[in-house]
Amino acid sequence: MEKYKTAVVRREHFNAAHRLHNANWSDEKNKEVFGKCNNEHFHGHNYDLEVKVIGFCNPETGYVIDTKVLSKYIQKEILDVFDHRNLNMDVSYFKHINPTTENVARVIFEILRPLISNELELKIKLYETERNFVEYPGE
Ligand code: NI
Repeated sequence: MEKYKTAVVRREHFNAAHRLHNANWSDEKNKEVFGKCNNEHFHGHNYDLEVKVIGFCNPETGYVIDTKVLSKYIQKEILDVFDHRNLNMDVSYFKHINPTTENVARVIFEILRPLISNELELKIKLYETERNFVEYPGE
Protein backbone atom coordinates (compact mmCIF):
# COMPACT_ATOMS: atom_id res chain seq x y z
CA MET A 1 0.00 0.00 0.00
CA GLU A 2 1.22 3.51 -0.80
CA LYS A 3 2.39 5.65 2.09
CA TYR A 4 -0.07 8.32 3.09
CA LYS A 5 -0.30 10.81 5.91
CA THR A 6 -3.13 10.64 8.42
CA ALA A 7 -4.10 12.77 11.40
CA VAL A 8 -5.03 11.15 14.70
CA VAL A 9 -6.87 13.31 17.22
CA ARG A 10 -7.29 12.71 20.93
CA ARG A 11 -9.91 14.87 22.59
CA GLU A 12 -9.71 15.65 26.30
CA HIS A 13 -11.28 17.99 28.80
CA PHE A 14 -10.19 19.87 31.89
CA ASN A 15 -11.50 22.62 34.16
CA ALA A 16 -9.21 25.33 35.40
CA ALA A 17 -9.26 28.82 36.85
CA HIS A 18 -7.16 31.70 35.65
CA ARG A 19 -6.65 35.42 35.68
CA LEU A 20 -5.28 37.42 32.77
CA HIS A 21 -2.97 40.07 34.08
CA ASN A 22 0.15 41.92 33.02
CA ALA A 23 2.12 42.91 36.12
CA ASN A 24 3.90 45.68 34.16
CA TRP A 25 0.63 47.52 33.61
CA SER A 26 -1.58 49.61 35.88
CA ASP A 27 -4.81 48.12 37.26
CA GLU A 28 -6.72 50.40 34.90
CA LYS A 29 -4.91 49.20 31.82
CA ASN A 30 -5.29 45.55 32.86
CA LYS A 31 -9.02 46.05 33.32
CA GLU A 32 -9.30 47.83 29.99
CA VAL A 33 -7.43 45.14 28.02
CA PHE A 34 -8.50 41.94 29.79
CA GLY A 35 -11.96 42.95 31.02
CA LYS A 36 -13.69 40.28 33.09
CA CYS A 37 -10.74 37.93 32.61
CA ASN A 38 -8.72 40.33 34.80
CA ASN A 39 -11.06 39.69 37.77
CA GLU A 40 -8.78 39.71 40.80
CA HIS A 41 -10.31 36.59 42.33
CA PHE A 42 -10.00 34.42 39.22
CA HIS A 43 -12.69 32.64 37.21
CA GLY A 44 -13.00 29.24 35.62
CA HIS A 45 -13.26 27.73 32.16
CA ASN A 46 -14.22 24.30 30.87
CA TYR A 47 -11.43 23.69 28.42
CA ASP A 48 -11.70 21.21 25.58
CA LEU A 49 -8.37 20.07 24.25
CA GLU A 50 -7.64 18.40 20.93
CA VAL A 51 -4.22 16.93 20.42
CA LYS A 52 -3.59 16.15 16.76
CA VAL A 53 -0.74 13.93 15.60
CA ILE A 54 -0.01 13.73 11.88
CA GLY A 55 2.24 11.26 10.14
CA PHE A 56 2.59 8.14 8.07
CA CYS A 57 0.99 4.94 9.30
CA ASN A 58 3.41 2.40 10.66
CA PRO A 59 3.11 -0.49 8.17
CA GLU A 60 3.24 -3.10 10.92
CA THR A 61 0.61 -1.64 13.28
CA GLY A 62 -1.42 0.49 10.89
CA TYR A 63 -1.18 3.22 13.51
CA VAL A 64 0.17 6.78 13.19
CA ILE A 65 0.45 6.72 16.97
CA ASP A 66 -1.00 4.36 19.55
CA THR A 67 -3.86 6.39 21.07
CA LYS A 68 -3.45 4.49 24.37
CA VAL A 69 0.07 5.88 24.61
CA LEU A 70 -0.97 9.38 23.48
CA SER A 71 -3.83 9.41 25.98
CA LYS A 72 -1.46 8.36 28.79
CA TYR A 73 0.92 11.24 27.99
CA ILE A 74 -1.93 13.76 27.99
CA GLN A 75 -3.35 12.39 31.24
CA LYS A 76 -0.04 12.41 33.09
CA GLU A 77 1.58 15.56 31.71
CA ILE A 78 -1.45 17.81 31.12
CA LEU A 79 -4.63 16.71 32.89
CA ASP A 80 -2.99 15.62 36.14
CA VAL A 81 -1.23 19.02 36.25
CA PHE A 82 -3.93 21.39 34.91
CA ASP A 83 -7.31 19.89 35.82
CA HIS A 84 -9.16 21.55 38.72
CA ARG A 85 -6.22 23.88 39.29
CA ASN A 86 -5.65 27.58 39.31
CA LEU A 87 -3.35 28.01 36.32
CA ASN A 88 -1.73 31.20 37.66
CA MET A 89 -1.06 29.90 41.14
CA ASP A 90 -0.81 26.10 40.94
CA VAL A 91 0.78 25.43 37.57
CA SER A 92 4.43 26.45 37.49
CA TYR A 93 4.51 26.94 33.70
CA PHE A 94 2.35 30.05 34.17
CA LYS A 95 4.36 31.66 36.88
CA HIS A 96 5.66 34.18 34.35
CA ILE A 97 3.33 33.51 31.41
CA ASN A 98 -0.13 35.04 31.16
CA PRO A 99 -2.53 32.05 30.87
CA THR A 100 -4.39 33.16 27.76
CA THR A 101 -5.81 30.39 25.61
CA GLU A 102 -2.98 31.05 23.15
CA ASN A 103 -0.33 30.61 25.83
CA VAL A 104 -1.99 27.57 27.41
CA ALA A 105 -2.09 25.88 23.99
CA ARG A 106 1.57 26.68 23.36
CA VAL A 107 2.62 25.38 26.79
CA ILE A 108 0.70 22.14 26.13
CA PHE A 109 2.54 21.83 22.82
CA GLU A 110 5.93 22.38 24.45
CA ILE A 111 5.19 19.74 27.10
CA LEU A 112 3.99 17.09 24.66
CA ARG A 113 6.40 17.73 21.76
CA PRO A 114 9.44 15.95 23.26
CA LEU A 115 7.31 12.89 24.08
CA ILE A 116 6.22 12.30 20.51
CA SER A 117 8.44 10.97 17.72
CA ASN A 118 10.13 13.66 15.61
CA GLU A 119 8.71 12.05 12.49
CA LEU A 120 5.22 13.03 13.60
CA GLU A 121 3.70 16.53 13.45
CA LEU A 122 1.87 17.81 16.49
CA LYS A 123 -0.90 20.42 16.59
CA ILE A 124 -2.90 21.65 19.55
CA LYS A 125 -6.43 22.98 19.52
CA LEU A 126 -7.76 24.43 22.76
CA TYR A 127 -11.34 25.58 23.29
CA GLU A 128 -11.82 28.06 26.10
CA THR A 129 -15.53 28.34 25.34
CA GLU A 130 -17.72 26.72 22.71
CA ARG A 131 -17.17 29.74 20.51
CA ASN A 132 -13.55 30.65 21.23
CA PHE A 133 -10.68 28.35 20.50
CA VAL A 134 -7.09 28.64 19.40
CA GLU A 135 -4.90 26.43 17.27
CA TYR A 136 -1.21 26.12 17.86
CA PRO A 137 0.12 24.91 14.52
CA GLY A 138 3.41 23.63 15.89
CA GLU A 139 5.50 24.83 12.97
NI1 NI B 1 -10.93 33.74 31.19
